[in-house]
Amino acid sequence: MKFLINSLLEIQSKHGYLPKNEMERISMEFNVPISRIYSIATFYNAFSLKPVGRHVIHVCKGTACVMGGSEVFEDTLKQMGVLDDEDFTYQPIRCFGACSLAPVVVIDGKVYGKMTVSRLKKIVSKLFEDESKDSDNDKTSKGDEDAREA
Ligand code: FES
Repeated sequence: MKFLINSLLEIQSKHGYLPKNEMERISMEFNVPISRIYSIATFYNAFSLKPVGRHVIHVCKGTACVMGGSEVFEDTLKQMGVLDDEDFTYQPIRCFGACSLAPVVVIDGKVYGKMTVSRLKKIVSKLFEDESKDSDNDKTSKGDEDAREA
């Protein structure tokens, strides 16, 4: 079973999620029913069945974090335009295991404890700015390429 999970982790790392055709291939390769592959893929948080954005935001919905105010963070993110797209993925989690830091938000693997709405807005706004700069750089690069081609 260890090798099967390693193979799934490699696919997850390569694609950012587990494409259906790759799970079917693993099912054949390991002679394991596809239902078993799905059960593994949905059990572990390390796997996703759909593509994830460049920035992944987890809001903890565990008891300590909810008591600390994490319930409003999802609405805050929605109001800011954080959608499930190629830029952002929002995923609630049950408990991150850092309850003493409640409320906890994890953004791109970095744990932010004692989160507040204003702090969340500041961090996410910075991500939007960075995305905007990247987009501008892409346009500039494309413009340079167009200029070279002309
Ligand atoms: S309840 Fe949020 S980290 Fe445990």
